[in-house]
Amino acid sequence: MSHPVPLLQSLRCRLIVSVVAIEIIMLSILVWNNISIIQSTHTDRLRDTANSMVQQIANTAGNYMVAVDYATLEDYLKNVVNYKELLYLAVLDRDDKAVISFGDFPDRARPAIDSHPAQADDGVFDIAEDIKVAGQPMGKVLAGFSLSLMEDAIKKSRVRGTSIAAIEIILTVIVTVIIGLGLTRRLGMLSHAAAQVESGDYSVSVPTESNDEVGKTAAAFNRMVTEVSSRTKQLEKEESRSRELLRENRQLIHTSLEIQEEERKHLARELHDELGQCLTAIQADAELIRDVSGDNKAIQTSASAIMDVSSRVYDVVHSMMHRLRPSILDNLGLIEALKDEIEAWKSRHQNTRCEFIYRGDLSSLGERSNISLYRIVQECLTNISKYAEASSVLIELENKGDELLLNIKDNGRGFDSALSAKGLGLIGMRERVSSLGGSMDIKTSEGDGVYIRIRLPMNNGSDNEQR
Ligand SMILES: Nc1ncnc2c1ncn2[C@@H]1O[C@H](COP(=O)(O)OP(=O)(O)OP(=O)(O)O)[C@@H](O)[C@H]1O
Ligand SMILES: [Mg+2]
Repeated sequence: MSHPVPLLQSLRCRLIVSVVAIEIIMLSILVWNNISIIQSTHTDRLRDTANSMVQQIANTAGNYMVAVDYATLEDYLKNVVNYKELLYLAVLDRDDKAVISFGDFPDRARPAIDSHPAQADDGVFDIAEDIKVAGQPMGKVLAGFSLSLMEDAIKKSRVRGTSIAAIEIILTVIVTVIIGLGLTRRLGMLSHAAAQVESGDYSVSVPTESNDEVGKTAAAFNRMVTEVSSRTKQLEKEESRSRELLRENRQLIHTSLEIQEEERKHLARELHDELGQCLTAIQADAELIRDVSGDNKAIQTSASAIMDVSSRVYDVVHSMMHRLRPSILDNLGLIEALKDEIEAWKSRHQNTRCEFIYRGDLSSLGERSNISLYRIVQECLTNISKYAEASSVLIELENKGDELLLNIKDNGRGFDSALSAKGLGLIGMRERVSSLGGSMDIKTSEGDGVYIRIRLPMNNGSDNEQR
């Protein structure tokens, strides 16, 4: 299952944040640039207006100063001082004494002259112009212009620019959110559908909606899901067929093992009942012939020979009967049967030490478990004598209460378990164990002996009933 994408990592969030950030940066630069232009336009205009006004006054005032006609000069200046940004105006004579002044002219302290309105830090742009007549200085004109009107205009422009930028940012956010939602909604449907496919639901289909890149991706996704779905169904069918075949195969092995066991039992009985009776009869007849032969040596020799042969045949038949179905297993139980088998094996392999250890109550095992365990030990001992060249063998059988453990270990040549599938012995052992609901592990490598571990449940999956 896919987890929801964290908000900060979502495409939608990243798209909106990036567009808005770019928008804010660009608009800030634009607003800052506009305000700078507006500011310099206003200050330049004030400087130019003030300069030309003061120059014109200085030019006009010269002649009146020469004639010392201050009254006419004052009348002339009265028309000029109505200019709305002018705070004060003064005409000084050569001794720097104010002969005419208007507005808030600070008569005693002369204001510091500013070369540009941008340098005026007291809110007043103070300028001065010399009054000259024929190159001779006659005095000077001083004027102060208020910056407040200009600053108001700049402030208004700034507010207007900032408002326009804010509106633009809001509109951009709205448009980006709408586009982002539309885009990510469709991508979200794709991602949701992919998660459903991941969880095994192949019935999903994503609407293509339009023929753009996302639409084409959705169409390709739908085709892919259909293909994956049909292949998965085919695989599932094949898998279930294989499982069925495997089950049938195992069933076949179980049945054949059971039939084999039944046949062995039947054969052992037939050998005992038919051949055993006949041999006993032959022996009895041979004995009778020998007894009634009188002094006929030839008949006596033949009768004795028949008795010897029939006795040997009887031993062979007896041993065959034992291997086919050890009566000791039915009569005295698993432990005695195993002891008997192991003793017989030891007598045939006197150079190999073989130890049999058993623990716990093993008398409660059912017939199927008994015969299976017996056959498994028999097969292991046969394999050891055929392949292992071992000097030591250990067989352990233990009832642990809820399970039965059988360990068979030899210190022989071992084998490469990957290459061991040629015989039926190990396969038969495995099948016997699995039919009883148990498990079998083989630990071996070439030159390292073989360790076979078998576990059988005591109370389920087998025929082990507590007697
Ligand atoms: N104790 C052992 N030591 C060394 N090799 C072994 C041992 N047990 C089995 N093997 C190897 O594993 C192979 C498979 O054994 P398995 O009993 O299945 O078949 P088999 O004995 O060859 O034939 P079958 O048992 O059908 O007569 C053997 O051929 C042998 O190479
Ligand atoms: Mg074998």
